[in-house]
Amino acid sequence: MEIAIALKLHVLAVVVWVGGMFFAWMCLRPVAASQLEPPARLRLWVGVFQNFFPWVWAAVPVILATGLWLIRAGFGGIGDAPGYIHGMFGLGVVMMLIFMHVFFAPYRRLRIAVATEDWPEGGRNLGMIRKLVGFNTLLGVVTVLLAAGGRYLTL
Ligand code: HEM
Repeated sequence: MEIAIALKLHVLAVVVWVGGMFFAWMCLRPVAASQLEPPARLRLWVGVFQNFFPWVWAAVPVILATGLWLIRAGFGGIGDAPGYIHGMFGLGVVMMLIFMHVFFAPYRRLRIAVATEDWPEGGRNLGMIRKLVGFNTLLGVVTVLLAAGGRYLTL
């Protein structure tokens, strides 16, 4: 019962985070880039991140806590967990570190640039966020492919 609840919360938080990045990168980014001039585009992204990042800050501890709980309850500890769990844990931690770097470095500079209307500096930082979020989306998809159904494969 507890394992089922932890797994539901784990996957729900993953869906919010990875699904949000997928939408931002694959759907919103190309339209914003082709239709908006820098001031409007940079303001749009600051607004989008202001709405999205609190969800990521909520999802990260849920994923970590439920993941560690699942390791303890399902496998009796990380030492006895199969390879796909180690892979998920490792990739998940890398994704979390990348998110925190985005939040505290380029996103902070982007907000300052937009507030001071420094569009070239804003563009540089948005470009950095674009690369890092694109990479994190890829890692998220790879982690889901590794994790989902991993228990049915001998990894
Ligand atoms: C960072 C620390 C993480 C830990 C410790 C962790 C741990 C776990 C554990 C123990 C399970 C249960 C696996 C099973 O019973 O077969 C699980 C399931 C799952 N995890 Fe993670 N996880 C983490 C991060 C992530 C991330 C970042 C993603 C996706 C981006 C992810 C996606 C999934 C999915 C889709 C499942 C469901 C697998 C299934 O039921 O077939 N996890 N996780």
